[in-house]
Amino acid sequence: MPAFANIVILTGAGLSAESGVATFRDKGGIWAKYDYRDVATPEGFAKNPKLVHEFYNMRRRAHADVKPNAAHLALARLERDYPGNVTIVTQNVDALHEQAGSTKLIHMHGEIFGALCDTCRARRHWTEDLSLDLACPTCGHKGGMRPDVVWFGEMPYHMARIAGLLAAADLFISIGTSGNVYPAAGFVAEAAANGARTVELNLEPSEGISLFSEAIHGPATQVVPAYVDRLIAEAAG
Ligand code: APR
Repeated sequence: MPAFANIVILTGAGLSAESGVATFRDKGGIWAKYDYRDVATPEGFAKNPKLVHEFYNMRRRAHADVKPNAAHLALARLERDYPGNVTIVTQNVDALHEQAGSTKLIHMHGEIFGALCDTCRARRHWTEDLSLDLACPTCGHKGGMRPDVVWFGEMPYHMARIAGLLAAADLFISIGTSGNVYPAAGFVAEAAANGARTVELNLEPSEGISLFSEAIHGPATQVVPAYVDRLIAEAAG
């Protein structure tokens, strides 16, 4: 079977679940403990910036100790060993794809180890706690430093580049996402409309399951390495 020329892989929180990173909508997930309107919207930040900083400082500290799992490592192997282009578009703000060795990677919802100044929009790598007491190292404004994470109601990053990738994709794989949040949840339809084969690798059927030409359900650390092995073997065959 000829190799796919352009593989686009959308990943979500389920990919990092087995690394010990909480998902959002599973039982006991993040949105069962916090109201997203309080901690993941510009309005929430304006109303109670201290709460938002506490929420992300807790997540940033928790992310410092997690490691990539077999699914992250398999996706890095696919980029390295597959004869076609492989690009990951991740909704995740963790750094586990990078730590696993993936390099062709787009963080459409930003990064937990990033800080953004609400005044001058300067962005920088950031691993410490953020607080209202901090002044922006670029413009000096105090109180506007926020996590460089895309909140509900904000435009995800790199959308034009993602549209180009979806237009050129001949294989679209969705991994570990519930298909609840747009625009990411609409990528499968966009890829299919452009003639791509669409595959879901997830613990259970997502909201968009009917839009996929194939689905393999199970834990990411099992189904992703197996699917990567199959893709590489088919391309070699
Ligand atoms: N292996 C594979 N899939 C898993 C695993 C696992 N071990 N554990 C959970 N899942 C699946 C769940 O079945 C679910 O479909 O991962 C998905 C996680 O869904 P969500 O918690 O909704 O996370 P996600 O789809 O990434 O959320 C999208 O919503 O809150 C916003 O910005 C946030 O990027 C996030 C976006």
